[in-house]
Amino acid sequence: MSGEIDNVLIPRQRIAERVEQLGADIARTLPRDTGDGEIVLVPILTGSIIFLADLIRHLPHKLRIELVTVRSYPGTATRSQGPTITGELPGDLRGKHVVIIDDVLDTGGTLRVIQREIERLEPASLRTCVLLRKKIQAADRPACEFVGFEIPNRFVVGYGLDYDDYYRNLPDICTLEEGAP
Ligand code: IMP
Ligand code: MG
Repeated sequence: MSGEIDNVLIPRQRIAERVEQLGADIARTLPRDTGDGEIVLVPILTGSIIFLADLIRHLPHKLRIELVTVRSYPGTATRSQGPTITGELPGDLRGKHVVIIDDVLDTGGTLRVIQREIERLEPASLRTCVLLRKKIQAADRPACEFVGFEIPNRFVVGYGLDYDDYYRNLPDICTLEEGAP
């Protein structure tokens, strides 16, 4: 992996259209009139920040946001080294309607860890929304109710996704050049 940008995979206009649709889908699913603070979004940092910022503006509900930090790609690694939760988990999710938000579902390791930890906190409901899902052979990947795009098994950057913490600011989702550095 050279770390250089290759092609635009999903241009910004398509992202914007799809995020609006996802927002509408999620909004239809979540209960209305749940009283104070009953809907909690749990975005996984750092890759989901731009997706989150756009998505929440299509959700008319009264909601709270509880950030969770997971690291699985130290430095220039492009294969997950195993997810670890590095920050605190949200405290009180009992009886709440929780939606986990992540940038990309790859092996599913990250989501499995987070879903397990949140289920222990006994939410009223738990759903997951990812912007991207890679087409890979992984029968045991955790369930995900809302998926923005199915993408090929390539390493992608932009719109919040990084390589070695760079490229999060690209407005389009792009592939990285394959091959030796
Ligand atoms: P998983 O645990 O293998 O499903 O990986 C999910 C996490 O790895 C995501 O939350 C991303 O932070 C990161 N990740 C996986 N694939 C990519 C990619 O193509 N580009 C950037 N980050 C990725
Ligand atoms: Mg991530």
